[in-house]
Amino acid sequence: MEKLLEVKNLKTYFYSERGVVKAADDVSFYVNKGETLGIVGESGCGKSITSMSIARLVETPPGKYVGGEILLNGEDMLKVSDERIRQIRGNDISYIFQEPMTSLNPVFKIGRQISESLMLHRGMSQKEAYKESIKMLELVKIPNPERVVDDYPFALSGGMRQRAMIAMALACEPKLLVADEPTTALDVTIQAQVLDLMNELKEKIDASIMFITHDLGVISEMCDRVMVMYAGKVVEVATTEDIFKNPRHPYTIGLIASKPDMSTKSSRLHVIPGNVPDLNNLPAGCPFSTRCSHVMDKCKTAFPEEVVLDGQHRIACYLYTEGGSKQ
Ligand SMILES: Nc1ncnc2c1ncn2[C@@H]1O[C@H](COP(=O)(O)OP(=O)(O)OP(=O)(O)O)[C@@H](O)[C@H]1O
Ligand SMILES: [Mg+2]
Repeated sequence: MEKLLEVKNLKTYFYSERGVVKAADDVSFYVNKGETLGIVGESGCGKSITSMSIARLVETPPGKYVGGEILLNGEDMLKVSDERIRQIRGNDISYIFQEPMTSLNPVFKIGRQISESLMLHRGMSQKEAYKESIKMLELVKIPNPERVVDDYPFALSGGMRQRAMIAMALACEPKLLVADEPTTALDVTIQAQVLDLMNELKEKIDASIMFITHDLGVISEMCDRVMVMYAGKVVEVATTEDIFKNPRHPYTIGLIASKPDMSTKSSRLHVIPGNVPDLNNLPAGCPFSTRCSHVMDKCKTAFPEEVVLDGQHRIACYLYTEGGSKQ
Protein backbone atom coordinates (compact mmCIF):
# COMPACT_ATOMS: atom_id res chain seq x y z
CA MET A 1 0.00 0.00 0.00
CA GLU A 2 1.32 3.40 -0.94
CA LYS A 3 0.73 6.31 1.40
CA LEU A 4 -0.81 9.42 -0.10
CA LEU A 5 -0.92 11.43 3.08
CA GLU A 6 1.18 11.09 6.17
CA VAL A 7 0.59 13.35 9.15
CA LYS A 8 3.25 13.21 11.83
CA ASN A 9 2.88 14.76 15.29
CA LEU A 10 0.65 17.59 14.10
CA LYS A 11 0.03 20.30 16.65
CA THR A 12 -2.56 22.91 15.74
CA TYR A 13 -3.23 25.23 18.66
CA PHE A 14 -5.41 28.28 19.25
CA TYR A 15 -4.16 31.16 21.33
CA SER A 16 -6.71 33.34 23.08
CA GLU A 17 -7.05 35.38 26.23
CA ARG A 18 -8.62 32.38 27.91
CA GLY A 19 -5.55 30.30 27.23
CA VAL A 20 -4.24 27.77 24.70
CA VAL A 21 -6.59 25.32 23.02
CA LYS A 22 -4.73 22.31 21.69
CA ALA A 23 -7.24 21.36 19.02
CA ALA A 24 -4.88 18.86 17.40
CA ASP A 25 -2.25 17.71 19.85
CA ASP A 26 0.44 15.40 18.53
CA VAL A 27 -1.83 13.86 15.93
CA SER A 28 -0.31 11.20 13.65
CA PHE A 29 -1.98 9.13 10.94
CA TYR A 30 -1.75 8.22 7.28
CA VAL A 31 -4.13 7.69 4.38
CA ASN A 32 -3.22 5.17 1.70
CA LYS A 33 -3.88 5.79 -1.97
CA GLY A 34 -7.48 4.88 -2.79
CA GLU A 35 -8.38 4.40 0.87
CA THR A 36 -11.14 5.95 2.98
CA LEU A 37 -10.12 6.87 6.52
CA GLY A 38 -12.91 7.73 8.95
CA ILE A 39 -12.46 10.17 11.82
CA VAL A 40 -14.85 9.94 14.75
CA GLY A 41 -15.22 11.50 18.16
CA GLU A 42 -17.62 13.71 20.06
CA SER A 43 -18.13 17.36 19.25
CA GLY A 44 -15.12 19.59 19.84
CA CYS A 45 -12.50 16.82 19.85
CA GLY A 46 -10.51 18.29 16.93
CA LYS A 47 -11.77 16.42 13.87
CA SER A 48 -12.38 19.50 11.72
CA ILE A 49 -9.26 21.35 12.81
CA THR A 50 -7.12 18.28 12.09
CA SER A 51 -8.59 17.92 8.61
CA MET A 52 -8.49 21.64 7.85
CA SER A 53 -4.84 21.76 8.84
CA ILE A 54 -3.98 19.50 5.91
CA ALA A 55 -4.55 22.23 3.33
CA ARG A 56 -3.68 24.96 5.85
CA LEU A 57 -7.27 26.17 6.07
CA VAL A 58 -7.19 26.99 9.78
CA GLU A 59 -7.48 30.69 10.46
CA THR A 60 -4.09 31.95 11.67
CA PRO A 61 -4.23 33.77 14.05
CA PRO A 62 -5.90 32.78 16.34
CA GLY A 63 -4.73 29.34 15.18
CA LYS A 64 -1.12 28.30 14.77
CA TYR A 65 0.59 25.25 13.36
CA VAL A 66 2.91 24.69 16.27
CA GLY A 67 4.59 21.54 15.09
CA GLY A 68 4.59 18.41 13.01
CA GLU A 69 4.63 17.44 9.36
CA ILE A 70 1.84 16.96 6.82
CA LEU A 71 3.30 15.01 3.94
CA LEU A 72 1.23 14.79 0.77
CA ASN A 73 3.17 12.58 -1.62
CA GLY A 74 6.19 13.46 0.47
CA GLU A 75 5.75 17.26 0.24
CA ASP A 76 5.26 19.00 3.60
CA MET A 77 2.11 21.13 3.49
CA LEU A 78 3.31 23.07 6.52
CA LYS A 79 6.49 24.12 4.71
CA VAL A 80 5.35 24.97 1.17
CA SER A 81 4.82 28.56 0.01
CA ASP A 82 1.40 30.26 0.06
CA GLU A 83 1.30 30.05 -3.71
CA ARG A 84 2.01 26.32 -3.68
CA ILE A 85 -0.63 25.62 -1.03
CA ARG A 86 -3.24 27.46 -3.13
CA GLN A 87 -2.27 25.30 -6.07
CA ILE A 88 -2.62 22.17 -3.94
CA ARG A 89 -6.03 23.26 -2.63
CA GLY A 90 -7.43 23.42 -6.12
CA ASN A 91 -5.61 20.48 -7.67
CA ASP A 92 -4.89 17.85 -5.08
CA ILE A 93 -7.14 18.32 -2.05
CA SER A 94 -10.86 19.10 -2.13
CA TYR A 95 -13.18 19.67 0.81
CA ILE A 96 -16.87 18.92 1.18
CA PHE A 97 -18.54 20.50 4.20
CA GLN A 98 -21.86 19.95 5.90
CA GLU A 99 -23.22 23.22 4.62
CA PRO A 100 -22.86 23.44 0.83
CA MET A 101 -23.27 27.20 0.84
CA THR A 102 -19.88 27.53 2.52
CA SER A 103 -18.37 26.29 -0.75
CA LEU A 104 -20.89 27.50 -3.30
CA ASN A 105 -21.03 31.16 -4.13
CA PRO A 106 -24.68 32.34 -4.06
CA VAL A 107 -24.21 34.97 -6.78
CA PHE A 108 -22.76 32.68 -9.48
CA LYS A 109 -24.54 30.06 -11.52
CA ILE A 110 -23.68 26.44 -10.67
CA GLY A 111 -22.15 25.85 -14.09
CA ARG A 112 -19.84 28.80 -13.81
CA GLN A 113 -18.53 27.61 -10.45
CA ILE A 114 -17.73 24.14 -11.74
CA SER A 115 -16.36 25.56 -15.02
CA GLU A 116 -13.93 27.83 -13.22
CA SER A 117 -12.34 24.90 -11.52
CA LEU A 118 -12.15 22.97 -14.78
CA MET A 119 -10.57 25.89 -16.65
CA LEU A 120 -8.11 26.58 -13.89
CA HIS A 121 -7.10 23.06 -13.00
CA ARG A 122 -7.69 21.03 -16.10
CA GLY A 123 -6.84 23.72 -18.64
CA MET A 124 -10.16 23.64 -20.48
CA SER A 125 -11.58 26.43 -22.62
CA GLN A 126 -14.76 28.09 -21.44
CA LYS A 127 -16.83 26.12 -23.90
CA GLU A 128 -15.27 22.79 -23.01
CA ALA A 129 -15.65 23.56 -19.32
CA TYR A 130 -19.34 24.39 -19.72
CA LYS A 131 -19.96 21.07 -21.47
CA GLU A 132 -17.92 19.19 -18.89
CA SER A 133 -19.89 20.92 -16.07
CA ILE A 134 -23.07 19.40 -17.46
CA LYS A 135 -21.34 16.02 -17.49
CA MET A 136 -20.22 16.47 -13.89
CA LEU A 137 -23.78 17.34 -12.82
CA GLU A 138 -24.96 14.25 -14.62
CA LEU A 139 -22.29 12.22 -12.88
CA VAL A 140 -23.56 13.32 -9.47
CA LYS A 141 -27.04 12.35 -10.68
CA ILE A 142 -28.66 15.76 -10.72
CA PRO A 143 -31.78 15.56 -12.88
CA ASN A 144 -31.94 17.96 -15.85
CA PRO A 145 -28.26 18.91 -15.73
CA GLU A 146 -28.62 21.07 -18.87
CA ARG A 147 -30.99 23.26 -16.92
CA VAL A 148 -29.35 23.13 -13.51
CA VAL A 149 -26.02 24.25 -15.00
CA ASP A 150 -27.64 27.67 -15.46
CA ASP A 151 -29.29 27.74 -12.04
CA TYR A 152 -28.11 29.68 -9.02
CA PRO A 153 -27.39 27.60 -5.88
CA PHE A 154 -30.48 28.87 -4.02
CA ALA A 155 -32.73 27.39 -6.71
CA LEU A 156 -31.67 23.88 -5.65
CA SER A 157 -32.87 21.73 -2.75
CA GLY A 158 -30.41 20.89 0.06
CA GLY A 159 -29.70 17.45 -1.36
CA MET A 160 -29.12 18.79 -4.87
CA ARG A 161 -26.85 21.54 -3.56
CA GLN A 162 -24.80 18.92 -1.76
CA ARG A 163 -24.47 17.04 -5.06
CA ALA A 164 -23.45 20.23 -6.84
CA MET A 165 -20.80 20.80 -4.21
CA ILE A 166 -19.52 17.25 -4.68
CA ALA A 167 -19.39 17.87 -8.45
CA MET A 168 -17.37 21.00 -7.79
CA ALA A 169 -15.07 19.26 -5.32
CA LEU A 170 -14.39 16.48 -7.81
CA ALA A 171 -14.07 18.66 -10.91
CA CYS A 172 -10.33 19.02 -10.38
CA GLU A 173 -9.98 15.25 -9.81
CA PRO A 174 -8.36 15.63 -6.41
CA LYS A 175 -6.05 13.03 -4.95
CA LEU A 176 -7.59 13.59 -1.52
CA LEU A 177 -11.20 14.39 -0.76
CA VAL A 178 -11.91 15.62 2.75
CA ALA A 179 -15.56 15.18 3.64
CA ASP A 180 -16.50 16.85 6.92
CA GLU A 181 -19.97 15.69 7.98
CA PRO A 182 -21.06 15.84 4.33
CA THR A 183 -24.46 14.24 4.83
CA THR A 184 -25.41 15.19 8.37
CA ALA A 185 -27.89 17.84 7.23
CA LEU A 186 -29.61 15.55 4.73
CA ASP A 187 -32.52 13.20 5.33
CA VAL A 188 -31.77 9.49 5.51
CA THR A 189 -32.71 8.51 1.95
CA ILE A 190 -30.79 11.36 0.35
CA GLN A 191 -27.88 10.66 2.67
CA ALA A 192 -27.68 7.06 1.45
CA GLN A 193 -27.72 8.24 -2.16
CA VAL A 194 -25.00 10.82 -1.62
CA LEU A 195 -22.80 8.25 0.15
CA ASP A 196 -23.22 5.75 -2.69
CA LEU A 197 -22.35 8.49 -5.10
CA MET A 198 -19.18 9.42 -3.22
CA ASN A 199 -18.05 5.81 -3.24
CA GLU A 200 -18.76 5.49 -6.94
CA LEU A 201 -16.89 8.66 -7.83
CA LYS A 202 -13.99 7.77 -5.59
CA GLU A 203 -13.52 4.54 -7.54
CA LYS A 204 -13.74 6.44 -10.80
CA ILE A 205 -11.05 8.99 -10.03
CA ASP A 206 -9.11 6.72 -7.66
CA ALA A 207 -9.06 9.31 -4.88
CA SER A 208 -8.47 8.84 -1.16
CA ILE A 209 -11.08 10.12 1.27
CA MET A 210 -10.94 11.43 4.81
CA PHE A 211 -14.45 11.05 6.12
CA ILE A 212 -15.46 12.89 9.28
CA THR A 213 -18.70 11.95 10.95
CA HIS A 214 -20.47 11.38 14.26
CA ASP A 215 -22.39 8.56 12.66
CA LEU A 216 -20.87 5.13 13.23
CA GLY A 217 -23.30 3.59 10.76
CA VAL A 218 -21.85 5.81 8.06
CA ILE A 219 -18.34 4.86 9.14
CA SER A 220 -19.06 1.17 8.80
CA GLU A 221 -20.38 1.70 5.28
CA MET A 222 -17.77 4.10 3.97
CA CYS A 223 -14.43 3.55 5.67
CA ASP A 224 -11.54 1.12 5.40
CA ARG A 225 -9.94 2.32 8.64
CA VAL A 226 -11.06 4.52 11.51
CA MET A 227 -9.26 7.02 13.71
CA VAL A 228 -10.89 7.89 17.03
CA MET A 229 -10.12 11.31 18.51
CA TYR A 230 -10.74 12.64 21.98
CA ALA A 231 -9.90 16.16 23.18
CA GLY A 232 -7.36 16.83 20.43
CA LYS A 233 -5.66 13.43 20.78
CA VAL A 234 -5.74 10.27 18.72
CA VAL A 235 -6.81 7.52 21.11
CA GLU A 236 -7.29 4.59 18.74
CA VAL A 237 -6.75 3.70 15.06
CA ALA A 238 -7.72 0.39 13.46
CA THR A 239 -9.46 -1.17 10.50
CA THR A 240 -13.20 -0.57 10.47
CA GLU A 241 -13.81 -4.24 11.09
CA ASP A 242 -11.49 -4.23 14.10
CA ILE A 243 -12.96 -1.07 15.57
CA PHE A 244 -16.43 -2.59 15.66
CA LYS A 245 -15.47 -6.17 16.53
CA ASN A 246 -12.68 -5.45 18.90
CA PRO A 247 -12.68 -1.85 20.15
CA ARG A 248 -10.00 -1.44 22.80
CA HIS A 249 -9.87 2.08 24.13
CA PRO A 250 -12.55 2.66 26.80
CA TYR A 251 -13.64 5.77 24.88
CA THR A 252 -14.12 3.82 21.64
CA ILE A 253 -15.97 1.10 23.54
CA GLY A 254 -18.23 3.80 24.98
CA LEU A 255 -18.83 5.38 21.57
CA ILE A 256 -19.76 2.07 20.01
CA ALA A 257 -22.01 1.16 22.91
CA SER A 258 -23.76 4.49 22.48
CA LYS A 259 -24.92 3.48 19.02
CA PRO A 260 -28.59 2.43 19.18
CA ASP A 261 -28.84 -1.32 18.84
CA MET A 262 -31.34 -2.13 16.10
CA SER A 263 -31.32 -5.86 16.83
CA THR A 264 -32.74 -5.51 20.32
CA LYS A 265 -35.01 -2.66 19.22
CA SER A 266 -33.88 -0.85 22.31
CA SER A 267 -34.35 2.83 21.75
CA ARG A 268 -32.35 3.75 24.83
CA LEU A 269 -29.03 5.22 23.99
CA HIS A 270 -26.11 4.32 26.14
CA VAL A 271 -24.32 7.60 26.63
CA ILE A 272 -20.80 7.92 27.97
CA PRO A 273 -21.32 9.66 31.30
CA GLY A 274 -19.86 13.15 31.59
CA ASN A 275 -18.76 15.64 28.96
CA VAL A 276 -15.72 16.31 26.82
CA PRO A 277 -13.53 18.48 29.07
CA ASP A 278 -12.97 22.11 28.20
CA LEU A 279 -9.91 22.14 25.94
CA ASN A 280 -8.79 25.28 27.74
CA ASN A 281 -8.70 23.41 30.96
CA LEU A 282 -7.70 19.81 30.37
CA PRO A 283 -6.95 17.44 33.23
CA ALA A 284 -3.32 16.33 33.51
CA GLY A 285 -2.56 13.02 31.81
CA CYS A 286 -5.19 11.27 29.71
CA PRO A 287 -8.06 13.68 28.93
CA PHE A 288 -10.57 10.80 29.08
CA SER A 289 -9.52 9.91 32.65
CA THR A 290 -12.33 12.06 34.10
CA ARG A 291 -14.96 9.88 32.41
CA CYS A 292 -13.22 6.52 32.24
CA SER A 293 -14.52 3.64 34.35
CA HIS A 294 -11.06 2.01 34.26
CA VAL A 295 -9.17 5.07 35.48
CA MET A 296 -5.91 4.37 37.38
CA ASP A 297 -3.55 6.72 39.21
CA LYS A 298 -1.05 6.90 36.35
CA CYS A 299 -3.78 8.00 33.95
CA LYS A 300 -3.76 11.32 35.76
CA THR A 301 -0.04 11.89 35.36
CA ALA A 302 0.87 11.78 31.64
CA PHE A 303 -0.74 10.89 28.34
CA PRO A 304 0.05 7.21 27.62
CA GLU A 305 2.55 6.10 24.99
CA GLU A 306 0.84 4.53 22.04
CA VAL A 307 0.72 0.73 21.86
CA VAL A 308 0.45 -1.14 18.55
CA LEU A 309 -1.35 -4.48 18.67
CA ASP A 310 -1.78 -7.04 15.87
CA GLY A 311 0.61 -5.02 13.73
CA GLN A 312 -1.75 -2.16 12.97
CA HIS A 313 -4.21 -1.53 15.81
CA ARG A 314 -3.04 1.62 17.62
CA ILE A 315 -4.22 2.42 21.14
CA ALA A 316 -3.21 5.15 23.56
CA CYS A 317 -4.32 3.77 26.91
CA TYR A 318 -2.51 2.53 30.05
CA LEU A 319 -4.66 -0.60 30.11
CA TYR A 320 -2.49 -1.82 27.22
CA THR A 321 0.93 -0.54 28.23
CA GLU A 322 3.34 -2.58 30.33
CA GLY A 323 1.75 -3.48 33.63
CA GLY A 324 -1.74 -2.57 32.37
CA SER A 325 -4.48 -5.11 33.09
CA LYS A 326 -5.07 -5.84 29.38
CA GLN A 327 -1.41 -6.25 28.58
N1 LIG B 1 -11.15 29.87 15.81
C1 LIG B 1 -11.02 29.19 16.94
N2 LIG B 1 -10.58 29.78 18.06
C2 LIG B 1 -10.44 29.10 19.22
N3 LIG B 1 -10.74 27.78 19.35
C3 LIG B 1 -11.18 27.14 18.28
C4 LIG B 1 -11.35 27.79 17.00
N4 LIG B 1 -11.82 26.89 16.11
C5 LIG B 1 -11.94 25.72 16.80
N5 LIG B 1 -11.55 25.87 18.08
C6 LIG B 1 -11.53 24.84 19.12
O1 LIG B 1 -10.84 23.71 18.66
C7 LIG B 1 -11.42 22.53 19.18
C8 LIG B 1 -11.64 21.51 18.10
O2 LIG B 1 -12.62 21.98 17.21
P1 LIG B 1 -13.11 21.17 15.94
O3 LIG B 1 -13.95 22.10 15.16
O4 LIG B 1 -11.95 20.56 15.26
O5 LIG B 1 -14.00 20.02 16.61
P2 LIG B 1 -14.80 18.86 15.89
O6 LIG B 1 -14.28 17.57 16.41
O7 LIG B 1 -14.79 19.07 14.43
O8 LIG B 1 -16.28 19.08 16.47
P3 LIG B 1 -17.71 18.94 15.76
O9 LIG B 1 -18.01 17.47 15.82
O10 LIG B 1 -18.61 19.73 16.65
O11 LIG B 1 -17.60 19.47 14.37
C9 LIG B 1 -12.71 22.95 19.87
O12 LIG B 1 -12.50 22.93 21.26
C10 LIG B 1 -12.94 24.35 19.40
O13 LIG B 1 -13.55 25.12 20.38
MG1 LIG C 1 -16.22 19.57 13.02
